[in-house]
Amino acid sequence: MKWMFLLSNNAMADGGTFMPPAATEIAGQVNNLYSFILWASFISCVILIGGMVYFVWKYKRRTNNDKTPYISHNTFLEFLWSFIPLVFFLVFFAWGWAIYHDMRKSPDNALEVHVFGRQWSWEFVYKSGKTSGNEFVVPVNKPVKLIMTSKDVIHSFYIPSMRIKQDVVPGRYTSLSFTSEKLGDFQIFCTEYCGTTHSGMLAKMKVVTQPEYEKWIQENEEGLTLSQKGEKYFKDKGCVACHSVDGSPKVGPTWKGIWAQVHAFVDGSSATVDENYVRESILNPNAKVVKGFNAGVMPTYQGQLNEDQVNALIEYIKSLK
Ligand code: CUA
Repeated sequence: MKWMFLLSNNAMADGGTFMPPAATEIAGQVNNLYSFILWASFISCVILIGGMVYFVWKYKRRTNNDKTPYISHNTFLEFLWSFIPLVFFLVFFAWGWAIYHDMRKSPDNALEVHVFGRQWSWEFVYKSGKTSGNEFVVPVNKPVKLIMTSKDVIHSFYIPSMRIKQDVVPGRYTSLSFTSEKLGDFQIFCTEYCGTTHSGMLAKMKVVTQPEYEKWIQENEEGLTLSQKGEKYFKDKGCVACHSVDGSPKVGPTWKGIWAQVHAFVDGSSATVDENYVRESILNPNAKVVKGFNAGVMPTYQGQLNEDQVNALIEYIKSLK
């Protein structure tokens, strides 16, 4: 039976016709869970509808004198039809949670790529400064971490073959991680309605070998890396007046070695220095004031720095180990 074959895992892992090709280990796990849920639903459906049809036939009225007997209830049966589905739902949940947990993990050696959504295209910015519109090139078998934001409205970044999807929201960073185990071209979609040409907001992901990737990243390379651009804005935009990059405090905290550290604030709270924290500190400096420094000293840079510039500054801070 062909349809049964389509539901089997091997057929799906190979692409089959039922699911998009699975290009990551996670995608295989998603397929397994998906077929388990599908089969559990299919079997429940057969039991339920089959039972209903059987009872309709078995207990149909045969003569005009047929009377419905008095039926109260059956505690054991009622317990079973509540408990068995509960067990299945808990299995769906635990299994799904375990896969989700793996999905959100991002190793430290991941290749970081910045992704911008805008009406109506995707833009990919690499640490080398290379910018690519609608063509997203990554090396095979290398963990990739996407740091994503939007330049206008909410979009959603979706690569079916990687089984990953995440909203791309203006004003904050979201992230996604994956490791492609297959070479080839994969389709990227926007899956959040974002205006007239939403359905045309497509991009191609190309998974290539490491040497091919290095060749591509060096092609037509010109200008500065992201962190070099950040250093330029650090000086041009006046950050240098209040922040040092050698570890000594000035009017504001130093930028040296702060990445991924925990900052304690004057209000007693604390946070890890990551993309969203740095972004907030640039655009809304009084939201979190580091202990030992004064609130109200730093002006906001809202409207003075665009997304590309904020991004470059973040990469500059990351580079100050
Ligand atoms: Cu962007 Cu839909």
